[in-house]
Amino acid sequence: MRTFMIGGGMIAHDQILPSLYQLKRLGRIEGIDICDRRKESLEALASAPLLRQAFPDQGFTPRTEPYAEGMKSLPARQLAVVAVPDALHYEAVMCALRADQHVLCVKPLVLTVAQAEEIEQEARGRGLLVGVEYHKRFDDRSLMARRRYQAGLFGEFKLGTACLLEKWYYRYSNFQNWFTCDASDAFTYVGCHYVDLVAFITGLEPAEVSVYGIKDRFPNGNEGWLWTDARVIWSNGACLNVQNALGFPDAGPGTNAQGLTMYCSSGEAGAWIRHDDQYRGMQYCYTRHPGGDGANVYTEPSPDYFQYVDVGGPGLVPVGYGYRSVAYIAERALELQGLNLKDRQALLAQWDAAGVMATPANSRYNEAVVEAARQSVAAGGKPVAIRR
Ligand SMILES: NC(=O)c1ccc[n+]([C@@H]2O[C@H](COP(=O)([O-])OP(=O)(O)OC[C@H]3O[C@@H](n4cnc5c(N)ncnc54)[C@H](O)[C@@H]3O)[C@@H](O)[C@H]2O)c1
Repeated sequence: MRTFMIGGGMIAHDQILPSLYQLKRLGRIEGIDICDRRKESLEALASAPLLRQAFPDQGFTPRTEPYAEGMKSLPARQLAVVAVPDALHYEAVMCALRADQHVLCVKPLVLTVAQAEEIEQEARGRGLLVGVEYHKRFDDRSLMARRRYQAGLFGEFKLGTACLLEKWYYRYSNFQNWFTCDASDAFTYVGCHYVDLVAFITGLEPAEVSVYGIKDRFPNGNEGWLWTDARVIWSNGACLNVQNALGFPDAGPGTNAQGLTMYCSSGEAGAWIRHDDQYRGMQYCYTRHPGGDGANVYTEPSPDYFQYVDVGGPGLVPVGYGYRSVAYIAERALELQGLNLKDRQALLAQWDAAGVMATPANSRYNEAVVEAARQSVAAGGKPVAIRR
């Protein structure tokens, strides 16, 4: 199976491309093409020191033509990987499906329910996979909580609080060109991770959302909702508060601030789930600055999301839930190889029902939340009912 990635920016560098390189190294996938309309993105990716060090044995084919053109060279049912900014996902995913390609799309899939429904319909008719890469689902702590919640050990979710604040330096990246008030906000960008996770763990669906946003300016003068506080009401009346920002201090340890606390009840006893997703028990203090945006002499690295380890070469091996999540979706696309339409559709329906991999059919609440959130943030935090 070949892969064709659309967009070669930050997430491509940090997680998606190294995961694809590893799958190629393992012989699970064949070629990797990357299409980006900016030549500089492709050059930066090809020469990125960490990727060169980890994968001296791997490379990709750069493409600067429009992705619709580039994809024409693919045989049917290869894997298109969509890693462009949020507002461009819909067009890229639909283009891939119409070219008969399976799709791995970084979160959020799209920004409206209608678009998610259209994608679901197109994919189902063609027996194609659309896997939405919500990698926090593949953090073992999420899978542990989900299994215990489903076994009834926590009773019912009542109140929760979550946060994910990315570092301040993000404001200096390409974000300043696309993360504008009309296109996104901090909740839509990263809050969706914890909304998805609470749904993943509990099986509850969001029913209403309100998002209070604070506008702030990027260095280039563009204005974005860079600080948000959201309240999500769930189908059982539970309430989750989610705070997000591009504002965690660059001098802070680790790559961001993040975590989830859920208070639950059986009616007779209280229960509690708390995940510190930022501090995972490691503290390093270096003799000098290690280099890199947001890095510090004192740091609290996460061993769980995405790390490179040296297990004897060649290069380094990526480990963590960031890799496992990409590998899981790619493996599902591989499982579909050689099957006829009916058999592919049956397998896809089975995966929709299992709910481990986010698909348009089983995670449409994410689009519903984003759609309501975008209305709410523009209306000063007004509660908006979620379309079902
Ligand atoms: N934690 C996460 O799950 C996570 C983290 C970061 C980003 N993301 C998602 O990844 C996506 C990309 O984010 P990023 O941080 O990599 O952004 P980025 O701005 O660093 O990279 C986007 C790239 O897409 C390219 N591009 C834009 N339009 C294109 C087009 N029409 N054709 C080809 N290439 C095009 C740009 O040139 C750029 O290189 C977003 O949807 C974001 O939400 C997810």
